[in-house]
Amino acid sequence: MTGIQLGMPQLPAPDYPEDVRQRLAADAKEVIDRYPDSRSALLPLLHLVQAEEGYVSRTGIRFCADQLGLTTAEVTAVATFYTMYRREPGGDYQVGVCTNTLCAVLGGDAIFDALKSHLGVENGQTTADGKVTLEHIECNAACDYAPVVMVNWEFFDNQTVESAKRLVDDLRAGRTVEPTRGAPLCTHRETSRLLAGFPDERPGAVEASGGAGPASLAGLRLARGEDGPARVGPPRSVPHGRDVREPGSEEGEG
Ligand code: FES
Repeated sequence: MTGIQLGMPQLPAPDYPEDVRQRLAADAKEVIDRYPDSRSALLPLLHLVQAEEGYVSRTGIRFCADQLGLTTAEVTAVATFYTMYRREPGGDYQVGVCTNTLCAVLGGDAIFDALKSHLGVENGQTTADGKVTLEHIECNAACDYAPVVMVNWEFFDNQTVESAKRLVDDLRAGRTVEPTRGAPLCTHRETSRLLAGFPDERPGAVEASGGAGPASLAGLRLARGEDGPARVGPPRSVPHGRDVREPGSEEGEG
């Protein structure tokens, strides 16, 4: 006899409490009214329900489907495709270590391994105090600041094992941490609400959103023939004996 399990079919997701449903429905209408086709509002609505519960629950999926005239299967397909949507509860701070190629070789793999052991969690798990969810992430288009750590999608550039450990310690202790660039940090739920398209009313937050940093603009300056430093940012340490001489300085290069 095989071990095939015939489980009970899942019951429909419960609805939000009435007061929560009404509040979210008013928010959802504001989002939906921005789009000529209501289904275009699905991504921000998923952020909206994520802001409510800290993740996209079955109740949140049902809510989005009801608001947009979609099936729960259609909403689930989208919610499970994008990695910014959590499918289970997580911590106040989503700490993502980039382990894509460039970050990995410049220290991302070492940082991820060190944080797993420092926090006592594996990929996707949350610390017992509910503060930090650790995950490895793919390239965040910040390779010129590798290795990069993201906290709630804000950039912490040029990290080391030591700086990343300090970062998560500060987050867990409730100390203020400042991203290298961009807006000040807020909790995962607050970030989700901003991503749903509601205004960031913290003083200076919009102005701090920033643009490209010096390393990202170095190529543009070179292409324009502008005088710029040959190297931006401080020279890296050489953890594994890598050669960090300037391009063109190698002996015999012609
Ligand atoms: S490889 Fe890490 S940001 Fe691109």
